[in-house]
Amino acid sequence: MSRVLVLFAHPGQRHSRVNLAMAKAASSVADVTFADLYAEYPTFGIDIDIEQKRLLAHDTVVFQFPLYWYSTPSLLKEWQDLVLEYGFSYGPGGDKLQGKKFLAVVTAGGRPAAYDADVNRMHGLRTLLSPLQRSVEVCGMTFLPPFVLFGAIDANSDGRAPRHILAYRSLLEALRDDRLDPAIPSRENFLDYSHIPMGKEMEA
Ligand SMILES: Cc1cc2nc3c(=O)[nH]c(=O)nc-3n(C[C@H](O)[C@H](O)[C@H](O)COP(=O)(O)O)c2cc1C
Repeated sequence: MSRVLVLFAHPGQRHSRVNLAMAKAASSVADVTFADLYAEYPTFGIDIDIEQKRLLAHDTVVFQFPLYWYSTPSLLKEWQDLVLEYGFSYGPGGDKLQGKKFLAVVTAGGRPAAYDADVNRMHGLRTLLSPLQRSVEVCGMTFLPPFVLFGAIDANSDGRAPRHILAYRSLLEALRDDRLDPAIPSRENFLDYSHIPMGKEMEA
């Protein structure tokens, strides 16, 4: 068993078409810890000690967020700036996150073509997420290929959302049960449904 922590960050939840449903699914997975950062810290007063203790108590850390201006929403950046402290996650004695896994679960309004690295090398989504990857790697964590929903704004109207939500749930269960192929991080740019051992609902 891997102890999985989901840190969900979405500042505009009343307008959410997909993240809120994903968050609901995540929060119902047994033995997975779910935290809604904007609900816990509406005024950005992040409790660094609590957050660091929460990290120490888990093996896998998931950031779930909508892409906002090609980055994380601001509270999640604040969380990184404050919680990933010198002496805790890097620098002398800063080895507390070594060996943990990290997964970014991202929704993007843009369609895949908008993030195609072959079309625009600078703006491929893996390139845009590289500050996050570099940061967690400096902390000694393994950056798993991100799980991304492109064209998230249309995912309900074109029928992709329910499958994505089920796949997310299955992904969290697989992380919890250590059922993801360990070779995936070095091999893939993104996690897709074929990498996720699906539950019965997906096979139907
Ligand atoms: C302030 C803001 C900034 C956004 N920036 C981007 C962006 O840089 N790239 C992108 O593809 N979508 C962007 N979007 C669209 C969101 O990523 C999209 O609405 C969200 O992923 C959909 O998830 P939700 O229905 O749960 O909110 C932005 C939306 C907002 C409100």
